[in-house]
Amino acid sequence: MRDYASILPLQLEAVSYRADDCLLLDRIDARFRAGPRSLILGPNGAGKSLLLRICHGLVKPTGGTLCWAVARPHAQAMVFQNPVLLRRSVRANITYALALAGYSRRDRRRRAEQVLEEAGLAPRARHPAAVLSAGEKQKLVLARAWALRPEVLFLDEPTANLDPGATKVIEQTITAMHAAGVKIIMTTHDLGQARRLADEIFFLHRGKLREAGAAETFFTQPGTAEAAAFLRGELVI
Ligand SMILES: Nc1ncnc2c1ncn2[C@@H]1O[C@H](COP(=O)(O)OP(=O)(O)OP(=O)(O)O)[C@@H](O)[C@H]1O
Ligand SMILES: [Mg+2]
Repeated sequence: MRDYASILPLQLEAVSYRADDCLLLDRIDARFRAGPRSLILGPNGAGKSLLLRICHGLVKPTGGTLCWAVARPHAQAMVFQNPVLLRRSVRANITYALALAGYSRRDRRRRAEQVLEEAGLAPRARHPAAVLSAGEKQKLVLARAWALRPEVLFLDEPTANLDPGATKVIEQTITAMHAAGVKIIMTTHDLGQARRLADEIFFLHRGKLREAGAAETFFTQPGTAEAAAFLRGELVI
């Protein structure tokens, strides 16, 4: 149990994002509560990554409000689709993130060893992060996020470009983090992955939130024609 108040729920009210003449997100109302794994689904360009960045505080919405129960920026971490790694060793990528978050030198070292072990990256700790394979890089960014013990983890297409084996390892890590109490909010356009991981679905289409609710209901009885077409594997644009 955490000994401080939860930053959840995250409440979005009429969150919009306009760039030039384009309304990229159109009055999104959503509530992300502690517990369920929330998956944001939708075709390319729907606004999934933008919405995630807004939730994480990297982009300011041009309209509407976003409200955490408690403000504590270090309690949330984000993993990007294309891993951003430092040109340093695998271990230093983790200890540096821990230093930024205010961990002592000793705690940094200990925590880094622990997450590298869990991620199966301990044998590679001293190697430059740049030489890792795509799957290993993604494992490293997840381990780095995990090291920070976030309460909420945002994941943007964490397995895009990975083969089934690497995807499985990443999904297992996500499942383990969720089991340890981390709130998962992630995007994907891999329907198989959504079926495996989602407790609830937020379906975005052209900047509008078309569906939000239990994953089972979404997959068995989609409420909109766009979601039904998306589920049938049709080319929804
Ligand atoms: N800061 C920004 N300024 C202007 N346009 C943006 C900005 N961020 C995103 N966009 C545009 O908004 C649209 C939605 O982008 P976004 O990356 O959120 O889509 P997505 O649903 O994540 O798609 P994909 O499945 O391809 O990752 C795109 O047309 C993109 O070019
Ligand atoms: Mg995206």
